[in-house]
Amino acid sequence: MNILKFRNDEDFVETGANLIISLLQSNPKAVLGLATGSSPVGVYARLVEMHRKELVSFSKASSYNLDEYVGLPVNHPQSYRSFMNEHLFNHIDIDPARTHVPDGNAADLKAECLTYDKMLEDYGPVDLQILGIGSNGHIGFNEPDASLSSGTHVVDLLEETREANARFFHKLEDVPRQAVTMGIGGILKARQIVLLVRGEEKAEAVKNALEGPITTQCPASLLQSHPNVVVLLDEGAGKWLK
Ligand code: F6R
Repeated sequence: MNILKFRNDEDFVETGANLIISLLQSNPKAVLGLATGSSPVGVYARLVEMHRKELVSFSKASSYNLDEYVGLPVNHPQSYRSFMNEHLFNHIDIDPARTHVPDGNAADLKAECLTYDKMLEDYGPVDLQILGIGSNGHIGFNEPDASLSSGTHVVDLLEETREANARFFHKLEDVPRQAVTMGIGGILKARQIVLLVRGEEKAEAVKNALEGPITTQCPASLLQSHPNVVVLLDEGAGKWLK
């Protein structure tokens, strides 16, 4: 694991964006694995800026997002499809048909999960997977549990995750109770994983994930078993590391 700690935001964002830009320069058809949430926002903004300066093109790339809420209309401002359009897709030259976000409104969610995994199998593996981490150690929406699912699946969100995400909604009751998420097995198939973490409130999760035992009670700790992980931390997120 390559763990990089940054004193300033600018360097954090630039390093994250440069990993994606170099990949696209060497492999314009790269398959990107993308996350939503506050952690990657700065990196996406930098990618948009670099695209506007014509320093990076996504025209041949494709993308697969980690997760989506169940039952939230796709055009709801807090759907993950809306998030990705707003923060990245609408501002770059990626072909919208090659951007994939699980359909949380599919009539048959089980079939949707199987279709998503089949696409990843047929068109993957993901070359570079962006991840954030929840304060409870979740990645994607793989919540701490006695066992973890390998493939894409429907998950019941823990109350702590709904509470953490309530900041994006008017009230807690508006936060969906379920999500579709890629499973841990799917995430670990990526060739490279880039974990972005900012803020002191994530320091404990980061310590458990990177230095604790590998356990399903901290899903991010399974990243220790992956051969190519880069972790970008700000000072707050890295404060408990040895
Ligand atoms: C989002 C996702 C989640 C977030 C995590 C951290 O697609 O899969 O695992 O990465 O909840 O969220 P933020 O970055 O908002 O702290």
